[in-house]
Amino acid sequence: MKLASTPTSPGARILAVGEHRPTRIVTNAEICEQIDSTDEWIRERSGIITRRIAAPDESVVDMATSAASKALAASGVPATDIDLVLLATCTHPYQTPGGSSEVQDRLGAANAGAMDINAACAGFAYALSLANDAIRAGSARNVVVIGSEKMSDFIDPRDRGMAFLFGDGAGAAVVSASPTTGIGPVVWGSDGSHIMTITQEPTYTQVQHALATGESLPPVALKMAGQTVFRWAVTKMLPVARRALELAGVAPSELGAFIPHQANMRIVESLVKSLKLPDTVAIARDMETQGNTSSASIPLALSTLLARGEVESGQPALLIGFGAGLTYAAQVIEVP
Ligand code: UT7
Repeated sequence: MKLASTPTSPGARILAVGEHRPTRIVTNAEICEQIDSTDEWIRERSGIITRRIAAPDESVVDMATSAASKALAASGVPATDIDLVLLATCTHPYQTPGGSSEVQDRLGAANAGAMDINAACAGFAYALSLANDAIRAGSARNVVVIGSEKMSDFIDPRDRGMAFLFGDGAGAAVVSASPTTGIGPVVWGSDGSHIMTITQEPTYTQVQHALATGESLPPVALKMAGQTVFRWAVTKMLPVARRALELAGVAPSELGAFIPHQANMRIVESLVKSLKLPDTVAIARDMETQGNTSSASIPLALSTLLARGEVESGQPALLIGFGAGLTYAAQVIEVP
């Protein structure tokens, strides 16, 4: 017996993006009230000047829904035509259920499947690639891809190596079937020998044990071996970025924009220099005012470049996400 299949699509592309930035702006001076540091050191070592921090009752799901609603409105695709909602996040506070089903419901995407993806700061690039593949394979025609993070729930404000780095927010994209390729081949990978370089401690199991035994534990927070991750990013992400360009058939000089994960300005500048990107390429430097928003950083930075008119619709942009795992994913997209 031969099984029937759904019609495939030659390509997929991003139709529109949407963003959610929490209202509260936190300066380096405010961060330094809890750690031994200075505004000057933070700017120099990370490039971050301010970050946005969500309100106590503003959740990963709230921010994801807000960003996705704006992307949907801008795309013109009715919510009921969405087939799949992919939510990249590593800070949704529930192990089960994932946040994507609630987002799907709140969007009114009554005909969509929903799934959370945790590939930390590479999550959006992973989810975008999965959306591209689902559309080309015929499993979906319209997909909402979101990166949403409330990093502030998982950062110890007294941790000198972490407190200044992160921010909260969400970015979303509507990805739809297209007669041409709007999302290039993905280069993705992982180096699990470095799992402990960025990790949440204590684990939920340790918390359960402590609750049962009365043992005291520090609050749940992310820990990072910053220098190790920094060195890995500037050396190992260069060939990944080059390979994504090669697979898409795009020369560095042909790019309209370079949108790397917004982890540290020095990582961005190192990649820009090594890739020999000319001045004509717009460089995402969203972390100056947003901090590192993990899986939300790439769609937020794309949204900023579009809002400022620094990149034009139809130009190719190189995305590269990297973070805990250690995971990474890169692809060239056609700017919506
Ligand atoms: O999003 C996931 C991926 N994440 C990343 O890609 C993050 C990668 N790592 C980084 O961005 C950087 O490692 C940090 C910004 C986190 C830290 O910068 P660094 O240049 O690697 O600092 P370091 O940890 O090597 O410390 C350098 C010096 C040390 O002092 P000594 O030993 O040289 O006297 C630290 O004690 O800076 C000191 N230091 C600080 N000084 C003022 C460390 N943290 C601070 C601080 N304020 N907050």
